[in-house]
Amino acid sequence: MKEKPLLILDFGAHNNQQVAKIARKFNVYCEVKPYNTDLDLIKKINPKALIFIGDEESKELDAAEKKSELKDLGIPVLEFGNQKEPEEIKAFIFDKCGFSGNWTIQAFIDDTVEQIKTQVGDKKVLCALSGGVDSSVAAVLVHKAVGDQLTCVFVNHGLMRKDEPEQVEEIFGKQFNMKLIAINAVDRFLDKLAGIDDPEKKRKIIGEEFIRVFEEESQRLGKMDFLVQGTICPDIIESVSNKGVLKSHHNVGGLPEDIDFELLEPLKLLFKDEVREVGEALGIPHELVWRQPFPGPGLGVRVVGAITREKLNYVRESDAILREEIKLAGLENSIWQYFTVCPGCKSVGVKDGKRTYEEAIVIRAVLSNDAMTADVAELPYQLLTKIATRIVAEVDGVNRVMYDITPKPPSTIEWE
Ligand code: XMP
Repeated sequence: MKEKPLLILDFGAHNNQQVAKIARKFNVYCEVKPYNTDLDLIKKINPKALIFIGDEESKELDAAEKKSELKDLGIPVLEFGNQKEPEEIKAFIFDKCGFSGNWTIQAFIDDTVEQIKTQVGDKKVLCALSGGVDSSVAAVLVHKAVGDQLTCVFVNHGLMRKDEPEQVEEIFGKQFNMKLIAINAVDRFLDKLAGIDDPEKKRKIIGEEFIRVFEEESQRLGKMDFLVQGTICPDIIESVSNKGVLKSHHNVGGLPEDIDFELLEPLKLLFKDEVREVGEALGIPHELVWRQPFPGPGLGVRVVGAITREKLNYVRESDAILREEIKLAGLENSIWQYFTVCPGCKSVGVKDGKRTYEEAIVIRAVLSNDAMTADVAELPYQLLTKIATRIVAEVDGVNRVMYDITPKPPSTIEWE
């Protein structure tokens, strides 16, 4: 019998995820919901215990009412503002509520596989695989449950990093032996993007074209019943205090609202680090599971202004050199994101005694916890020199390399 969960209700805390992470570190399964979650839904979740965190909103009448309504359920409650020591949470969980502490990643995998099998039965499942961590882990998990009833569609939009499309085919098609349809839509995307220099328009075109290609393919495949989504917990927890989001992202892989599928979201209760643990446990290569965040519109937002094949090539090749050198220097796990940008400014240089007039490349490397703010990574000067030397020597058409030393804010991490 599966143990009932611990339910954390967010009354305006800054750290609701942290409390959930503490509980899960003690191997107690928990979920986080906003304080105004419907009472019927809470009864359906049927929690073994409740934690109320945050007090900002509890000054509001409905929050106070909600608290007393919840206390009337007769379930043990731990209530606090923004701070609570892990030891106090532990005492509540084990001494007061008697949780068993037997929730593990392997137990999650086993339960989820069983659940997917029951839910899907003998029906068909479709997945848009991007090669990102979440969609990859979700796809492998579903594949483990239903095998060839799952078809994955991978759309190569020409904006991926060097060798990535090949890696997706190698890992999922060959290693995991999944039914994978790889669509080369490079020309289609680049034609649509030709001459477009506004960053938001570029994002929109990439997002919409993705949907179009995906829809065409799914129609060709015939009736599919389920669609796998790599939604994870932070995507759905709406902290009642984190209302302001700086910049909204049109994500590639975001699908239209009128889709005719039932959604399968096997990771929706996990945090990013747990998704990675599941990925490792399923045998997905370490590099993919731990890869740095990569924007949905890919290199498309790293060529500033209108995208051309030449500029994309400068970014792709210089980015490959940067990644290789960062890895050689043993720094890949200590930098949040590192990549190159083609800012589209030509400048004069000299090569083999001849004047050149070529593109510049910017190196960006930042430290961050959540991408909301970022500090510049202080890469060793010698390393920067080595990377710059290699880029101008190996990437034809580039004669200058710069290092972006601006934190976020006032800059953003990406250039567009
Ligand atoms: P900014 O540039 O806003 O980026 O500081 C914050 C984080 O978001 C990533 N990013 C995106 N991710 N679609 C995405 O999926 C996008 O359009 C997008 N734009 C930025 C960026 O790489 C960083 O991690």
